[in-house]
Amino acid sequence: MTYKEKHRPQFHFTPEKNWINDPNGLVYHEGEYHLFYQCNPYSNEHKDMHWGHAISADLYHWEEQDIALAPDELGTIFSGSAVVDKNNTSGLFKSDLGGLVAIFTHDGENQQQSIAYSEDKGRTWKKYDGNPVIPNTEIIDFRDPKVFWHEDNQQWVMSLACGDHIQFYSSANLIEWTYLSSFGKEYPSYIGVWECPDLICLPVENKAKKEWVLIVSINADGPNGGSAVYYFTGNFDGRTFHPNEKPEDALNWADAGKDFYASVSWNNTEDTYWIGWMNNWQYAGVVPVSPWRSSMSIVRKLSLYEHAGKYLLKQQPIIADDNKKSVSYQNVEVAPDTLKNYEINNIAEIDLKLSEESGASIWGVTFHTNQDESFRLLIDIEKNNYTFYRTEGITDFSTDFPEKVTGSLNGLSVQTLRAVVDTSSLELFLNEGLSVMTDLIYPRGEITRFDVFTEKEKLKIDNLTYTKLNSIWI
Ligand code: FRU
Repeated sequence: MTYKEKHRPQFHFTPEKNWINDPNGLVYHEGEYHLFYQCNPYSNEHKDMHWGHAISADLYHWEEQDIALAPDELGTIFSGSAVVDKNNTSGLFKSDLGGLVAIFTHDGENQQQSIAYSEDKGRTWKKYDGNPVIPNTEIIDFRDPKVFWHEDNQQWVMSLACGDHIQFYSSANLIEWTYLSSFGKEYPSYIGVWECPDLICLPVENKAKKEWVLIVSINADGPNGGSAVYYFTGNFDGRTFHPNEKPEDALNWADAGKDFYASVSWNNTEDTYWIGWMNNWQYAGVVPVSPWRSSMSIVRKLSLYEHAGKYLLKQQPIIADDNKKSVSYQNVEVAPDTLKNYEINNIAEIDLKLSEESGASIWGVTFHTNQDESFRLLIDIEKNNYTFYRTEGITDFSTDFPEKVTGSLNGLSVQTLRAVVDTSSLELFLNEGLSVMTDLIYPRGEITRFDVFTEKEKLKIDNLTYTKLNSIWI
């Protein structure tokens, strides 16, 4: 497959055509990473939801498969997860070796949870005869089951989004579910509708311990408008999630950008990886691309890092491109009245490592296109924030799109910057992924150059590397 349309991402997953949104059913099984996702196989709009499917061996090169789950009399197929039922706890498999079970929301008259199973490594699926496994006639928003195997208690645990809170359920067999507890009602409900939860246990890199993290996507009222993802750290005792922070301190954004949503992690992996839908419900239906609409983010490896009494989520991109070509420059100095210019292309990664004695307090990089457009990232250590300006290029399809997008530096001065650029997106990882921002851009031209600038003190860079990446579609 070679996809060359304007603005088509070259190393982020997109379907050949039509609409996609949330990643679903992320699971590793017999050498394959499965990426299922919300899709409409018939058009470029959000309706008639099915589960689409792609497979990868390295979380980077994806191959689209046939549709996995289609609507039925209980409704269309909304978001959910998948697990490897290794010991055939469900009894759905002929062999004791089990297989894959998908747990998803049927969106019909009501939102209810159902399951399906696959005996052929995710290629084809049978829906369970007794669906729904968690019926519902009362709650309006009742969706997006994320299930994992809780080793300590030897049971399946489900997190479910219920409007303004998360409910937890447990099960021995993925079929009969028992309500355990709720979390979130005491947290500020001015923040949108809660969706796509995920409960994960992550290593704290600088503490040799693990902490639980509850991920919640919220639609509306994100830090820069619209959809966004936040997280709570705490402890999960098998029944209840106990947050570390009081409600008023608990708002931690996973990604400050406008275009990272519904992110969830892979099941059945040693390290924890996640992926998000690279879009925002504010304008997802009108982004100027075709015949596909929307892509996934780059996959990121997750961990935690303790800083100033808080556990910060750390995300590092997975770029498994064996043929990439890098050029490095050492000991680069930039003075306030000069710019350092570098030629790049629009499928690229840029890494900057600052010298420890670099005192620059306001600095950044600007990406330029061959049609005189620019996209600027400004890092302001004094204000403890960074801002990406995507006010140029094609922006007129939505008044919510042309923005100054701002994120927090979490009280850290910036030592490293990694920018992942792919045709129509920019993912920024500051300080090895302790501050992350994902934004779509729609340049009319192609990115051909970037410059590094400083507004006050001299900027000292130990190492600057530009890496030219390849298309995964060829
Ligand atoms: C999140 C979401 C989910 C829902 C799905 C429907 O983006 O709204 O809550 O299951 O999308 O496509």
